[in-house]
Amino acid sequence: MRMFVSRRRVKKWKFFHFFATCFVLSFMVFWGPFNNYIMSYMKSYSYRYFINSYDFVNNSLSLKHSSAQPQFPYLINHREKCQAQDVLLLLFIKTAPENYDRRSAIRKTWGNENYVQSQFNANIKTLFALGTPVPLKGDELQKRLIWEDQVYKDIIQQDFIDSFHNLTSKFLLQFSWANTFCPHAKFLMTADDDIFIHMPNLIEHLQGLEQIGVRDFWIGHVHRGGPPVRDKSSKYYVPYEMYKWPAYPDYTAGAAYVVSSDVAAKIYEASQTLNSSLYIDDVFMGLCANKVGIVPQDHVFFSGGGTIPYHPCIYEKMMTSHGHLQDMQELWMEATDSKVKNISKGFFGQIYCRLIKIVLLCRLTYRKSYPCRAAFA
Ligand SMILES: *[C@@H]1O[C@H](CO)[C@@H](O)[C@H](O)[C@H]1NC(C)=O
Ligand SMILES: *[C@@H]1O[C@H](CO)[C@@H](O)[C@H](O)[C@H]1NC(C)=O
Ligand SMILES: *[C@@H]1O[C@H](CO)[C@@H](O)[C@H](O)[C@H]1NC(C)=O
Ligand SMILES: *[C@@H]1O[C@H](CO)[C@@H](O)[C@H](O)[C@H]1NC(C)=O
Repeated sequence: MRMFVSRRRVKKWKFFHFFATCFVLSFMVFWGPFNNYIMSYMKSYSYRYFINSYDFVNNSLSLKHSSAQPQFPYLINHREKCQAQDVLLLLFIKTAPENYDRRSAIRKTWGNENYVQSQFNANIKTLFALGTPVPLKGDELQKRLIWEDQVYKDIIQQDFIDSFHNLTSKFLLQFSWANTFCPHAKFLMTADDDIFIHMPNLIEHLQGLEQIGVRDFWIGHVHRGGPPVRDKSSKYYVPYEMYKWPAYPDYTAGAAYVVSSDVAAKIYEASQTLNSSLYIDDVFMGLCANKVGIVPQDHVFFSGGGTIPYHPCIYEKMMTSHGHLQDMQELWMEATDSKVKNISKGFFGQIYCRLIKIVLLCRLTYRKSYPCRAAFA
């Protein structure tokens, strides 16, 4: 009888264990991809996986031999900014002339060179990439920019109008500046001015990679087989003349991605040979990369366009989060607090954080922060 009872217990336990494993596995396997790509992606997605070579990019989007990529003159520049030899990270932040408050918050938080120097003994160079204000309100704003730059010496501006449809010009500014004035930086990052970057986590990650001499490195939130938007009313509308095919090559969301110096150099070379009329800058980057045979790697802690849940267990791993305008300083204090690293320490700390992450990330309603599989990474 005793025997029988305990066997039944074992069976029950096994059954429960099996069930729990299936439950968790099904979340990991199915929910990860499904929350990112909705039905409208099916066509482009299958196109990507059937065709997948994108050889066409080479021929049809290349510039004719006679034409060169337009180069806008610099209005504000700092050629000497990168003179130090051991630059770990060249960080470009895409900003607009009127976004003074955002730049100010970034200088005090994740973009702060001195903080990284003192905490990690690493050299980062932070620069804001800008075009010019639109002519109507231009003069006053331009004067203020020049003043701002005299104080902080961290603005790079070229003579093109700073607008959504000129984003590819801003992309070319960043990669050509890096290639000309900072080719020795180990990594190049480009970021929007409304995101939050957990710089300590990123620097630790990059320092590890630098030690192993990583090459062909390109991480971010990867869009696979994204379809061009053909709806004329959309901000992202791309006509057939600009791009004929039903899917883009894989690319990382322009809000934040990192490449190693060898990739930055190859992308720059490619960017000089492609027609840059396609104004979606991250897609253009994808085309350049495709041309030189470089593929992006997805990093689960680069946000897919949403704000992350606020919790120390998330801060412990996070890289980027979107939509931070008001709470930049608050989040910076919280996320870089030394208590954060302690919370997941030890066996129970790890279990606690794993459960918290499952609860926060694996929801049935679609959220654009980190995928469920980030809870298991
Ligand atoms: C891409 O095109 C260039 C000239 O436009 C050519 O030199 C090169 O071989 C082509 N590469 C591939 C892989 O077809
Ligand atoms: C992009 O910048 C150029 C140079 O300033 C300007 O002529 C053009 O109108 C701008 N394009 C858009 C769409 O703003
Ligand atoms: C680039 O492509 C556009 C079509 O999107 C075309 O109108 C333009 O002439 C091309 N530019 C060059 C320099 O080939
Ligand atoms: C974190 O843990 C370390 C020991 O592992 C301890 O010395 C430190 O005081 C803790 N920090 C906080 C803020 O609790």
